[in-house]
Amino acid sequence: MTDPAGPLGPAGPVEPMDAAGAMEATAPGRHADPAGVQGPPPGCPAHAGAGAAVPGAVRLSGLEYQQTPSQLYRTLRREHGAVAPVLLDGDIPAWLVLGYAEVSYVTSHDDLFARDSRRWNQWPNIPADWPLMPFVGYQPSLLFTEGAEHQRRAGVISEALEAVDQFELAHVCRQIAEGLIDTFAGSGQAELMASYAHALPMRAVVQLCGIPQGDVDTEDLVRDLKISLDAPEDDDPVAAYLRVQERMERLVKEKRNSPGPDVTSRMLAHPAGLTDEEVVQDLITVIAAAQQPTANWICNTLRLLLTDDRFALNVSGGRLSVGHALNEVLWLDTPTQNFVGRWAVRDTQLGGRHIKAGDCLVLGFAAANTDPQIWPEGHVGAENSAHLSFSNGEHRCLYPGPLLADVIARTAIETLLERLPDVVLAVEPEELTWRPSIWMRGLTSLPVRFTPVVR
Ligand code: HEM
Repeated sequence: MTDPAGPLGPAGPVEPMDAAGAMEATAPGRHADPAGVQGPPPGCPAHAGAGAAVPGAVRLSGLEYQQTPSQLYRTLRREHGAVAPVLLDGDIPAWLVLGYAEVSYVTSHDDLFARDSRRWNQWPNIPADWPLMPFVGYQPSLLFTEGAEHQRRAGVISEALEAVDQFELAHVCRQIAEGLIDTFAGSGQAELMASYAHALPMRAVVQLCGIPQGDVDTEDLVRDLKISLDAPEDDDPVAAYLRVQERMERLVKEKRNSPGPDVTSRMLAHPAGLTDEEVVQDLITVIAAAQQPTANWICNTLRLLLTDDRFALNVSGGRLSVGHALNEVLWLDTPTQNFVGRWAVRDTQLGGRHIKAGDCLVLGFAAANTDPQIWPEGHVGAENSAHLSFSNGEHRCLYPGPLLADVIARTAIETLLERLPDVVLAVEPEELTWRPSIWMRGLTSLPVRFTPVVR
């Protein structure tokens, strides 16, 4: 599986909702031009109806913009305004919402732009092995629920997460961090992306759910989660996902019989009375939702601290600096750059565009955060947290997700800098590369060196 922001797990072929509207074919790959810009022949009937690609739609797949997505957003804004017609993998049409006001509007109007992807008017054109299927294919988890059902499911998770003691979480994260650092501290070098930034949040969240560190199959679970979320070429994400699901089913059974002070037990005990299947689905959603963005937040912040002179002066000293860097990353290099998304409930207008019932809207958080309308002076990166990196509205990153992510990321970074105070990049800053993804912003690797330390 590649790494767009979204849920974990294989989603099957989707039964469209009634509201999907009449489909007119826009066959994948049709009218493609090598420059990546669509231009249908005049009068082409495939471009007239619901869900048809808009002339000039820009293809989002491909590598050309992925190292510098800000250029892409600038160009799109100049040429299309706040809502741009785009083509997803296989030239499937969608709208990329780039404006801060427009993303805020979409996310706060569930009645117009809703979350259940079965509304999509493109389903007849989507092959079963479509690369984005794991992220848009309907699953019976919290993510795709709406209205009262969403409130029921979200309320259970929110209350179960709210009971997490943040000091205890910081303590757990510090222990995990110390253990990970011990594995490379003596060597004087490390690749922090795999061995630290990704490894830490996954272990922390698994522990919150009630699987203790050192449990005989924690490492298997962590490995399977990694494969499911971010499979290397030679691994099988579906098989790994099924093993994760099986382990979660076992956990739910264990916690039904013998509850503990953990998220799983609290979800099971909640008066909303979720079924075991619902708890399994939502636990997997929480783990997946927490893992990749928090890992990339840690890594992108470490990169900023290690490459930017404003921070380098007191990199090992200042708590304030770490806090500033974490916040600046959310404005400028946010982990969830773009998110699929919302589906129009009925025909409507947005940013001067006519949106048809069943159209897909991609939420462009990265573009919205740097919208010149909110930064007329050109300076981006305020000390406030009015960015849209945790989205907005009913389906925003579930409270207290952002607070827990902050505790995990801050503890990870502070512990590393305390243990390895002279850590520096092992390559030139320009040699660092971003993962080729329009969805997530994260480095391919973060090699560092430091004076070896043995405990
Ligand atoms: C402990 C860490 C985290 C937890 C437990 C968590 C949990 C969740 C959950 C459960 C959802 C689904 C909400 C729903 O559909 O109602 C969600 C959505 C989301 N989360 Fe988080 N999250 C965490 C960290 C992060 C981080 C670090 C970021 C980015 C910086 C992030 C950004 C988002 C975004 C953009 C969405 C999509 C919201 C939408 O559909 O509008 N999350 N998160």
